[in-house]
Amino acid sequence: MYTQAMDIAAARGEDPAPGQVTDAGYQAEFDAKIDRGDFIEPKDWMPEAYRRTLVRQISQHAHSEIVGMLPEGNWIGRAPTLERKAILLAKVQDEGGHGLYLYAAAETLGVSRDTLVEALHAGRAKYSSIFNYPTLTWADVGVIGWLVDGAAIMNQIPLCRCSYGPYARAMIRVCREESFHQRQGYDLLLAMMSGTAAQRDMVQDAVNRWWWPALMMFGPHDAQSLNSGDSTRWGIKRITNDELRQKFVDATIPQAKLLGVTVPDPDLRWNEARGAHDVGAIDWDEFWSVVNGNGPCNQERLAARIRAWEEGAWVREAAMAHAAKSEARAAGGR
Ligand SMILES: [Fe+2]
Ligand SMILES: [Fe+2]
Repeated sequence: MYTQAMDIAAARGEDPAPGQVTDAGYQAEFDAKIDRGDFIEPKDWMPEAYRRTLVRQISQHAHSEIVGMLPEGNWIGRAPTLERKAILLAKVQDEGGHGLYLYAAAETLGVSRDTLVEALHAGRAKYSSIFNYPTLTWADVGVIGWLVDGAAIMNQIPLCRCSYGPYARAMIRVCREESFHQRQGYDLLLAMMSGTAAQRDMVQDAVNRWWWPALMMFGPHDAQSLNSGDSTRWGIKRITNDELRQKFVDATIPQAKLLGVTVPDPDLRWNEARGAHDVGAIDWDEFWSVVNGNGPCNQERLAARIRAWEEGAWVREAAMAHAAKSEARAAGGR
C-alpha cells in the first residue's frame, strides 16, 4: 500500500514547489485526475466553475433532504400502528441526517451552512420539485417510499462514483438508507393491497397522483438539460437524466404489476426492439411551474422551514454559548 501511494504521488508530479506551478499546470493536473477517475478532495486545486457547480448541486440535494422530511412528517402522528410509526420516524430522521451530511460536504467547498440555509429561505436556492406535492392519505407515505425514494436511489447510486470525494462518500451511506426507505414504502403498500377495497383504491389514487411527479424528479430531457455537459465532463454526472428515468421506469413497472396497481399513462408500453418501456409525454409546464414556486405546497414548505429555523434559534445559541464556555474553561486550564 505504501509503495503504491508513493508511485501515485510521483506519477502526479506533486513534487514541484507550489510557487512554480502555474494555473494551467493545476488545470492539467485536475484534468488528469478526472481522466484517471481519481477523487478530487477539498484541499486539491479545482476550477472555480467545478466548485460552484458542486456547491449548487450538493446544497440543492441537502435542501431536498430537509424539505423532504415535511410531507411524510405530516403523517407520523397518524400512523396506523406502533410499528409503522417507528418505521416512519426512523425514515424521516434518516432524511434529516442526509441533509446534515450533505451540508457538511458542501462546507468542504468553502461555503457556510448558514449561507446555504439563508439562500433556501430567501427562495434563491432550489430543492426537488417532488416535495411540493401534498400527502393526502396514508397510502401516500407508502407511495413516496416506493416511487420517490426509488427514484432518489436511481439518481444517487451513480453519485457514489462522482469525482468529488466528500460527496461520493456521503452518498454511500445515504444510498443504503434510501434502500430501506424504498422497501418500507413497498412493504406498506403490499399490506394495504391485501386489505379492503377502500385501501386498494387509496393506493391506486396515490400512485395516480405521484407517478408523473416521480418521473419529473430526473429533471428535463437530456436535450434541454442546461448543466449536464460540464457535469459529465467533470465526472459529477455519470448517467443522463433520460437514461436514469428509463432505468427507473423499467425497474418500477414489474413492481407495480406485483403490487396490483397501474400507472396513469395510457401510452406506456413495452418496446420489444429497445428492450425497454416507452412512456407518454411528460407535462413539463407542470414541472417548471412547481420548480418556479407555484406547486401546490411550495409556500407551505418554505414557511415550515423558516418557522423551524426561527424556533430553533435558542438551540443554536445554547450550543454556541456552551462551546464558548468549554473553550474558556479549557483555556483556563480546567
Ligand atoms: Fe434521503
Ligand atoms: Fe429517503
